[in-house]
Amino acid sequence: MNQRTIYLDRNENNYGPAPACFDVLRNTDLAKLSWYSRSFTTGVQSVLSSRIAHDFGLTEDRILLGYGAENILKQTIQCYLGKNETLMVPAYSWWYYKVIASEVGGLSVEYPMIMGKDQFFYDLAGMREVFSRVHPKVVFISSPNNPTGNTLPLPDLKAVLGDFRDAVIVLDEAYTYHGKTEYVKDLVEANPRLLVVRTFSKYYALAGVRIGFAVLGRNLPELSKFANRYLGFHRLSEEIALAALDSPDYYRVIAQKMAEDKERFYDELVRLPGFRVFKSDTNFILAEIPPDHKERLRSFLIGRGLVIKFMNEPLLNSHVRITLGTQEENRLLIDAFKAYFD
Ligand SMILES: Cc1ncc(COP(=O)(O)O)c(C=O)c1O
Repeated sequence: MNQRTIYLDRNENNYGPAPACFDVLRNTDLAKLSWYSRSFTTGVQSVLSSRIAHDFGLTEDRILLGYGAENILKQTIQCYLGKNETLMVPAYSWWYYKVIASEVGGLSVEYPMIMGKDQFFYDLAGMREVFSRVHPKVVFISSPNNPTGNTLPLPDLKAVLGDFRDAVIVLDEAYTYHGKTEYVKDLVEANPRLLVVRTFSKYYALAGVRIGFAVLGRNLPELSKFANRYLGFHRLSEEIALAALDSPDYYRVIAQKMAEDKERFYDELVRLPGFRVFKSDTNFILAEIPPDHKERLRSFLIGRGLVIKFMNEPLLNSHVRITLGTQEENRLLIDAFKAYFD
């Protein structure tokens, strides 16, 4: 029997997108494939950026669309980080940050994060110390952070932004949903060199469509110019993303199921021998596992068609990052963990 592989390793949303997104593909006017968008004739980049701007209460020129959040992060680095200049990143963070800095000959310097008993925290004093020592050109803050799952609380975020004025600050909110708009306008208005980056890949289950966006502070004209797409965006992707934004009820139900499953995971995982589980504000959970089980556990899970992320980084090398899947998938994974340690 061919067993299905269940991927719980890249923080995707295995429930899939809202039905309205599929309807876009079913009902689309195929002629669109042949023609560039004509949004520019109405003075905007795209229908999607207009909608996003409206939702955030900003003008459309303050929204930057990209081929996923990764593309926006990379363009920001290409635009602002020169050779031998410094990017500041969290000590525990998405590996991609350092790679894009090295691609332009830049340096990455890590700022510390506090590993609590069952939760990670941003270390404000540590961030300030590193900032004043290395004078970075660009600072990345990720909230909730991948792979640690913790958020930088808004008052703390505002406090450090106030201290980091000379740098370009990227707030990577890939794991935040679109409805959370209320604080973004104030943040970017108060911090002209800040950009807040989001994506349709996670909450909206549209990783394959590759759309991310940034809300820009007023003083990032170099980036707006650098990232300009004179011939527009992928016209079907824009419409699919709009359909997702118009389906909040569908996504709310999924978020509720995930929240319940996350609690279930905590309860089950903390009981496993040698496990330390970290609280997460997002769709994945980081857990430390007994190091000598790493390879055997990986093979055991793969034997059951279950793929999770076994971390392999200097500070996190006996840890797993588990993406929450559907309720059925989560149950299979929990059963597999229990069977392994039985
Ligand atoms: C923190 C973080 N930012 C950005 C991204 C990239 O998202 P996208 O699919 O929009 O490129 C990821 C992907 O896993 C991520 O973990």
